[in-house]
Amino acid sequence: MSQPKLEITNLQAAVEDKTILKGINLTVRGGEIHAIMGPNGNGKSTLAGVLMGNPKYQVCSGTATLDEADLLALPVDERSKAGMFLAMQYPSEIGGVTNADFLRSAVNAHRGEGNEIGLFPFVKKLNQSVKKLEMREDLPHRYLNEGFSGGEKKRNEILQMMMLEPKMAILDEIDSGLDIDALRIVGTNVTQLVKDREQEMGVILITHYQRLLDYIQPDFVHVLIDGQIVKTGGPELAKRLEEDGYDWLKEELGLKSLTLEADTEETTRPANIGACGTRQKLGL
Ligand SMILES: Nc1ncnc2c1ncn2[C@@H]1O[C@H](COP(=O)(O)OP(=O)(O)OP(=O)(O)O)[C@@H](O)[C@H]1O
Ligand SMILES: [Mg+2]
Repeated sequence: MSQPKLEITNLQAAVEDKTILKGINLTVRGGEIHAIMGPNGNGKSTLAGVLMGNPKYQVCSGTATLDEADLLALPVDERSKAGMFLAMQYPSEIGGVTNADFLRSAVNAHRGEGNEIGLFPFVKKLNQSVKKLEMREDLPHRYLNEGFSGGEKKRNEILQMMMLEPKMAILDEIDSGLDIDALRIVGTNVTQLVKDREQEMGVILITHYQRLLDYIQPDFVHVLIDGQIVKTGGPELAKRLEEDGYDWLKEELGLKSLTLEADTEETTRPANIGACGTRQKLGL
């Protein structure tokens, strides 16, 4: 099987008429782990949401392809079927739908009509994955994320990933809420999925902390500030950020501020004609 490739070029996107992503360029191949770090509110989750098709974002320009699939032209379910996966920073609770039913429906939607997974192989795989993640055994049978603890929700996102076997997984702050043991367990399982599979999975790992990168070692570390990748390095870059924060980088790059609020004029004008979201709405 060929190695998957996610290619993002000059991606610009807005939310509520405010430009958040200002030209993202990134290529992720199967078997590679790319960590994305950066201060709060600078566009990391926006990038994840735009790639997955969250309707709250308006794409203004640029491209995003996964192999032959033009992601930005596809509805969310088709992006998922093409091999994209997002472990969300804030997973939703869905009452009335059990976790196991949700997973089986998702797996079957991927496999297509006439090729549904049998109940026995599904349950077997589910149980194996639950065991690997050392999750409580009742969790698959409860309503999706309802009443789950913060850490249980995060582990459940990884369970979904293990069941769906995506080509490209975006993990948005999967470490937040995890206790020390869970961090190791999740980290080991993600690494195994990336490295052990015949068709290697690529990973975009959004995190604030080096500690996750002890368990999921990145090939590349990118820093996203003000909607752009301003620096790329290896694991040593994450270590430097952990030790020294972002100030040295800010100085090195000559950035005025690390926050969008202070940096852009757009926030002072509610409908900035220059903002790509506004331009799109006006058909300019
Ligand atoms: N509906 C909205 N209206 C206005 N601004 C929004 C809206 N949704 C998101 N934003 C803004 O978009 C910016 C980027 O948010 P994003 O969630 O991508 O940040 P992030 O880098 O993931 O931050 P964190 O590290 O805190 O998770 C923030 O300033 C946020 O307030
Ligand atoms: Mg975020």
